[in-house]
Amino acid sequence: MKLFKTIEETTSYISLQKGNGQSVGFVPTMGALHEGHLALMRRALKENELLVVSVFVNPKQFDNPEDLEKYPRDLDKDMRLLEKVGCDVLFAPEVTEMYPEQETISYDFGQLETVMEGASRKGHFNGVAVVVRKLFDIVVPDRAYFGEKDFQQLAIIKQLVKQTNQEVAIVPCPIVRETDGLAMSSRNERLTVEERALAPFIYQTLQQARDKVTDLQPAQIKDWVIGEFKKEKAFTLDYFEIAEDTFLQPVDSWEEGRGTMGFIAVFLGKVRLIDNIRFI
Ligand code: PAJ
Repeated sequence: MKLFKTIEETTSYISLQKGNGQSVGFVPTMGALHEGHLALMRRALKENELLVVSVFVNPKQFDNPEDLEKYPRDLDKDMRLLEKVGCDVLFAPEVTEMYPEQETISYDFGQLETVMEGASRKGHFNGVAVVVRKLFDIVVPDRAYFGEKDFQQLAIIKQLVKQTNQEVAIVPCPIVRETDGLAMSSRNERLTVEERALAPFIYQTLQQARDKVTDLQPAQIKDWVIGEFKKEKAFTLDYFEIAEDTFLQPVDSWEEGRGTMGFIAVFLGKVRLIDNIRFI
C-alpha cells in the first residue's frame, strides 16, 4: 500500500494508474477504522481495480471543539487494517495540506440541511461538503462509497455531486452493526464499559418503533420513543424524527410507496451517537 501525505503525490500516482486504464474506487474516512468502514472498502475492491482510502479528521465539520479533540486517532492501527483489506493508496494529509488558507466556500443544500443533523450541528454539512469536494478533486474516483449509517450525509453528498457536476457514482452501503445491534462507529470507542453495555438500547428501541407502524401514526411513535428515552437516565435524546427518505422531511402520516425512515441522535454520557431504521 502506498501512503501519501501530500495532494501532489496522490494526484500524480492516481492519474498514472488511471492512464493505465485502472478504475478507482474511493472510501473517504476520518480513521479509527472498524468493520463498517472495511465493508465499504471490500465493496469498492470488488467493483474497481484500485482502492483509494482517505483518513482525515476534518476540523471543518466539527461544531464541538471537545468532540474534535477527543475524536479517536490511530494511524498505525488503521494502516494495518488497510494493508489487510487490500487498500492500494492511503491519502492521510495534515490539516495544513487540506486547508492551506482560510476556507470560504459555502454550499446551500436547502431543506436537506435544515433538519436533524443539519439543525443540530450548525455548519456540519457545509464542512463535510467542502472536504468531500476537495477529496473528489484530488482522487477523481469512478465510484465513491458511503455508509447509510450517515443517511443524511449520503443525501447531501448526492446533492453535492449534482450541484458541482462531478463525474463520480455515489454508492450507498448498508449499516454494519455489532452482534448486539449497536451501529458500528468510531465514537463507540469513547463509551465507558457501563455505557457500552447500555448502548444496544438505541437500536432495540428503533426496532420496536418500526414494529408499531401498522398500529400507530408517526406522531404517536415519536412520543413513544421520546418516552422510552426519558425512562433511561444514561441517555439524553437529541432528536428522533420520522421522515421520507429523499429530502428527509418529517412526515405526519404513512403513505404507501413513499420510503419512510426513523432517525435518531442521542447522547450516551458525553458521546453522541446516531442511527436509523427503515419503516416503509
Ligand atoms: P467516518 O465517520 O469515518 O465514516 C466514513 C464512512 O464510513 C462514511 O460513509 C460512513 O457512513 C461509513 N460508516 C461509518 N460507520 C458505518 C457503519 N456502521 N456501517 C456502514 N457504514 C459506516 O463520515 C465521515 O467519516 C466523514 O464525514 C467523511 C465523509 C469522511 C468526510 O469527512
